[in-house]
Amino acid sequence: MMHKEDFWWRNSIGYVIYPSAYYDFNGDGVGDLRGIVSKLDYIASLGVDLLWICPFFDSPMDDNGYDVRDYYHVNPLFGSDEDFRLLIKEAHARGIRLLVDFVLNHTSDEHPLFQMALRHPKGKEAGYYYIRKGRRRKGKLYPPNNWKGYFSTSAWKRIEGTDKFYLHLFSEKMPDVNWENKDLRQYYYNVARYYLDLGVDGFRLDAVSHLGKDQSFGDSELPLDEDGMVLDSSKFANREEVFSYLREFREEVLDHYDCLTVAEAGGCLSPEDSLKMSDKEKGSIDMVFNFDCCWCNGAYGSIDKNDNEIHTDVLALKRNFKRWYLATKDHVSSLPLYWCNHDHPRALSQYGDINFRKESGKMLITCLLFQYGTPFLYYGEEIGMSNVTYKSIRDFDIDISAKNASAYFKKLGYKDDRILSFLCRTSRVNGRQPMQWGKKRYASFSKVSPKTKVNPNYKDGVNVEDNEKDPSSILHYERKAAAIRKDPDIHKMIFEGRFAYIDEANYDVFAYCYFHKGEILSVVCNFRSRNIEFYLPNPMDEVLLHNYDGYSYAKDRLILRPFECLVVKGKRHG
Ligand code: GLC
Repeated sequence: MMHKEDFWWRNSIGYVIYPSAYYDFNGDGVGDLRGIVSKLDYIASLGVDLLWICPFFDSPMDDNGYDVRDYYHVNPLFGSDEDFRLLIKEAHARGIRLLVDFVLNHTSDEHPLFQMALRHPKGKEAGYYYIRKGRRRKGKLYPPNNWKGYFSTSAWKRIEGTDKFYLHLFSEKMPDVNWENKDLRQYYYNVARYYLDLGVDGFRLDAVSHLGKDQSFGDSELPLDEDGMVLDSSKFANREEVFSYLREFREEVLDHYDCLTVAEAGGCLSPEDSLKMSDKEKGSIDMVFNFDCCWCNGAYGSIDKNDNEIHTDVLALKRNFKRWYLATKDHVSSLPLYWCNHDHPRALSQYGDINFRKESGKMLITCLLFQYGTPFLYYGEEIGMSNVTYKSIRDFDIDISAKNASAYFKKLGYKDDRILSFLCRTSRVNGRQPMQWGKKRYASFSKVSPKTKVNPNYKDGVNVEDNEKDPSSILHYERKAAAIRKDPDIHKMIFEGRFAYIDEANYDVFAYCYFHKGEILSVVCNFRSRNIEFYLPNPMDEVLLHNYDGYSYAKDRLILRPFECLVVKGKRHG
């Protein structure tokens, strides 16, 4: 196994970029790789040294690039292969490492391998996909089983002119590939080698938990929906086979490079099971993204709820962070930390409050950054970007999963306004709006009207330009926070200290601390938009970070203002 510089990513701060939304360099309304290159100095200024860039490979863009048509070339919409090489070089020149988003559960239906599979049902490529005969009942043809996919439709699509169907857990333009097939696995290993040889520093492994399927393809026994289908993850998520595929991937490819792999392992993987993938000694990959801290406010599936019924469940957040911490601490495994990515609404709208944009934006950064693990910020968090303000459900049709969800809810009889408020609250389109660089038209993201609408709040100070000018902005705070997080002493306290929650049962305040060699580092975060009295028994000798001026503290009691947060250090007395 290659020496991994004792896991360099332990001291990294990651940053996630959705390439179509970051910066439009060539003026066609879509962000591109040259746009990212031109912003690398800005990215470095955030204290970020690890980038995960969502897919930019050749694609018909049915799922915005997660439907790959050609793994070996950059989508012309995002630039050229040359631009990608430039990005690697320029990022490395600034000490920034680069993770490519590797989609290995499915290809586009326009990928030559799938096209071959369709043309030659007996050819070897047909074995790269899951193609099965449908079932006939009373003369009608039905899919091979009752599985529903993740994008609100059947997981099967009929191959026109035949009685066969292919499996697609996501969009129907993304047929799942068959990892049982040895040649198919080799195909992906070659793609991985190609990018590692090109100089990338690793991969975010897309939808990796779905690589193994129940090969009997029997019906699910779970209760069916009105269309006779059911989303039963046990049939295709985190099955034992996934772990052996990944082991082979490691032996054949990853072990031969100094690289980082972060798997997207979905909401149904326990921290203990995740170690089958990411255990430092026995695992195959380095860390596993879980979803457990993304929906701790009741918003998931909340079509029947009103906005005022959505509340951050601070206890659930603490519980979830802790169970992952307990499973991975003592360097058993690395642990990625994040609030949201391109599949989620904006963290500020989820757990913060746009009426306290600065305060809550800073608080969320603080709460995440000082936890045990490798934090990944999502682009725009550093300037307080929040959810869309769309007035029509049609605006969400730019995302296939939102489009399918609207159609599904309409069919169930939901009114447009209810679907609209649901999408505004939960849709991943929220996390894909153009980065707000300045006050000029289209938020200085592009010179022409962007394909995805810009959030009008860029005119109200939610942009980089205004943040740069304002010494009390979220942006300046983030830079300071990142520098503190990277201080070797603080790093030691986080990774070697003894972690504990402070007043764990408190349902308004997320507060934690580390004890290390006679010192205590405490992080206190108020998650409410009102004053909260909080008992802090730890010493406050030095305030390292604070999102308000001055504080009210007497006899171990803090009166925390809305979303107030502090990072304090002190010597243990007695
Ligand atoms: C992952 C991606 C998501 C995509 C899906 C299918 O969950 O993060 O954006 O739609 O996989 O590739």
